[in-house]
Amino acid sequence: MWRRSGSRHGAADLAAAIELGVLDGQLPVGTRLPSERELAEALDVSRTLVAAALDRLRDAGLVASRRGAGSWITKPRGRTPEPVSPDVPQAIDLVRAATPAAPGVLAAVDRARLLLVDELGRHGYTGTGLPALRERIAARYTARGLLTSPGQILITNGAHHAFVLVLRMLTHPGDRVLVEQPTYPNALDAIRAAHTTPVPVALGEHGWDLAGVEAAVRQTAPRLAYLIVDFHNPTGYRLDASGRAELGALLARTQTHAVVDETFVELDLEGDDGPPPLAAFAGDWAITVGTVSKSHWGGLRIGWIRAPEDLATRLTSARFASDLGSPVFEQLVLAELFDAGDPDPAARRAVLRSQRDALTEALRRELPDWRFRVPSGGLSLWCRLPEPMSTRLAIAAANHGVQITPGSRFSAQGGLEHWLRIPFAQPADRLADAVTRLALAAASVRAQPADDLPVA
Ligand SMILES: Cc1ncc(COP(=O)(O)O)c(C=O)c1O
Repeated sequence: MWRRSGSRHGAADLAAAIELGVLDGQLPVGTRLPSERELAEALDVSRTLVAAALDRLRDAGLVASRRGAGSWITKPRGRTPEPVSPDVPQAIDLVRAATPAAPGVLAAVDRARLLLVDELGRHGYTGTGLPALRERIAARYTARGLLTSPGQILITNGAHHAFVLVLRMLTHPGDRVLVEQPTYPNALDAIRAAHTTPVPVALGEHGWDLAGVEAAVRQTAPRLAYLIVDFHNPTGYRLDASGRAELGALLARTQTHAVVDETFVELDLEGDDGPPPLAAFAGDWAITVGTVSKSHWGGLRIGWIRAPEDLATRLTSARFASDLGSPVFEQLVLAELFDAGDPDPAARRAVLRSQRDALTEALRRELPDWRFRVPSGGLSLWCRLPEPMSTRLAIAAANHGVQITPGSRFSAQGGLEHWLRIPFAQPADRLADAVTRLALAAASVRAQPADDLPVA
């Protein structure tokens, strides 16, 4: 997982993986580490290697140990622990694939203020969501070729919340959840947090291997699948209409529910309407989750679930176990945004295309041995690195003022050290600057002296 295949750098790799966990917020300060013996057993390596890794981390001030009390994560000494925060001046945030708000959000806020007057006379608990917003979302699906009634829509606090609600409703601890490999890291975290097991199916050079999906479904009988068929995160692939027909039939035939995450569906860079939603081919087996986080603004925190009406009702009741509804004001703002429509979709696409192209040009210039496919939508490039160094590169990049997520975070089982996701959600000059810093970081990683510690 954390080790480069055939690597002689075992201790360095393990230390780097733990360091990344700290920088990434996965291992907060104070986290107690398992004993050397437990770690060695769990990772199937020697105690010598674990001890050497812990020595390195102690030297870096990331771990403290006391005899009898074990080891725990400490605040890094002599370096800022905050570089992962996008708020640090000069740090370039390539962790998030999200743009600033689209034009028109502030104007919609102003209009929604007036509509709020009516809502203030009510109690404000909207349950499934404001009827006016559910109607608009249903109409948008119908316009895309998927007949939908407002009763099929449940408003949530974003697409991720939507996924977690469905996951909790349809799975039990111990179930398997089929995912694409690579996939969205927070979805993997949610799957693990629900005590279910992600079953990865690799995306190939041309996207989905539907025979592979069928084989995995037959072999592992997953309770649920989690799929991103519109500008997949992180690869940017989009499944075409015939692929959707095949995949939809497969889900129905094998009676497998799928959550179809449409977070990036509106982010097509070429102005192409795209095929109908997967649910148009899979019937009730597809539960669609949507959001305006990428199309309008992540700060609205509004998303939704489109499901068969009875499931939408059950999901609403189940939701009350954890939260009582989405904010009324943001729902009003979104209804206003939908009514106004995008004033200039071509201009927005042109900006995103120019950012994507600035990134690809800078990479070709400064890192010519990195390989990628130029996506026609989404917000990121999925780059193949010349060496399995993604984790070490992410750590080195932090020292050069770039926050970036290593490939392993997109994997159900670690690995993917040959891969790095680079979002193009920033202005062109900042992306060019980021690539220069990544090139420096890559050079520093490649220049690292061989570690003479034995590998277990
Ligand atoms: C595939 C995918 N799903 C869901 C989300 C989160 O969406 P939301 O902000 O609506 O919760 C993201 C955010 O990057 C994403 O990439």
